[in-house]
Amino acid sequence: MNSTITTAQNLHTATQPLERNTEKLIANIRKLLEEKEAILLTHIYQRLEIQRISDHVADSLALSRVAAKTSAKMIVFCGVHFMAETAKLLSPEKTVLLPDLASGCPMADMITSKDLIDFKKQNESAPVVCYINSSASVKAESDICCTSTNAVDIVKSLPNKKIIFVPDKGLGAWVQKQIPEKEIIIYDGFCPTHYQITTAEVSRLRQAHPSAVIIAHPECDPSVWEMADFVGSTSQIYKFAEECPQEEIIILSEHGLIRRMQADMPQKKFLMTFPNPLCPNMKYHRLESVLYALENNLHEITIPEYDLANGLFERAKRTIDKMFEVSEAKYSQSYWKGVKGIN
Ligand code: 13P
Ligand code: SF4
Repeated sequence: MNSTITTAQNLHTATQPLERNTEKLIANIRKLLEEKEAILLTHIYQRLEIQRISDHVADSLALSRVAAKTSAKMIVFCGVHFMAETAKLLSPEKTVLLPDLASGCPMADMITSKDLIDFKKQNESAPVVCYINSSASVKAESDICCTSTNAVDIVKSLPNKKIIFVPDKGLGAWVQKQIPEKEIIIYDGFCPTHYQITTAEVSRLRQAHPSAVIIAHPECDPSVWEMADFVGSTSQIYKFAEECPQEEIIILSEHGLIRRMQADMPQKKFLMTFPNPLCPNMKYHRLESVLYALENNLHEITIPEYDLANGLFERAKRTIDKMFEVSEAKYSQSYWKGVKGIN
């Protein structure tokens, strides 16, 4: 995993007891969360059984906001590594646990700080916007961070005509389409989960369900999101699906999000491409590993002394803080408000 912050060993192996009674598991998790003054933050791609017992379920932008503002002493993060690392950057005084260290993000791992330094040499005057799906060391080499919810606003906020965007080429192309007056220099990273979705599959679904609306996440290949009626981040997809009149909805995004929407909106029929686009990294967390992590304080996301000393931590945090400065006024009201089980 491309990280300068985590030093813990990958201990997610068979040492964990995997067959405990679910109700007892949940009761023990909630009891430990209370005892440790901890909150459970969970990304909406996560397994539903973990979503159900979480304090907050949301997308990466809303979860970062909660991590920055919570008064809890400990954050247990059921998302991927960069999300827990971002929580640690925003709340360094808190203990942040990632129940299963195997849950990295392959897209975030596609760029190292050295790759970015080399990439910047090709366009030295252009500022760097990094997608939140990146390591702390890449954030430290960037000027401002963004999520898929606010990427267009963040790029628009910069006065420069040329902007470097890393690491996601799907989202980068989407931003470029929204802001044709700027030149976006895009790194060659991508999400393996969203790139599983093919134009052939979208055509097949379109033909079989001609009255359905098609909604895509911008992490898809641009040739795929070009076929959609609406393109948006996770929270924007959810909101659009809730508000649109169509009963049949084809979602070009991750399987966990689609299952969650189907559970919340039983009157609608959600359709997905084949093979179902599943982010395996998110699904490493299980109720058993959440309990095991709480019992043993694993796996703690820590800031190495040398990253504090060499300023990497400060620079990475500044990149995220700048994002909030630009986008907080517009996005401080979470789309999830009022949706049962989602904060
Ligand atoms: P959101 O920013 O929409 O939560 O997406 C995070 C992610 O990793 C999507 O693949
Ligand atoms: Fe990373 Fe893609 Fe999984 Fe999101 S869905 S966490 S971008 S691999």
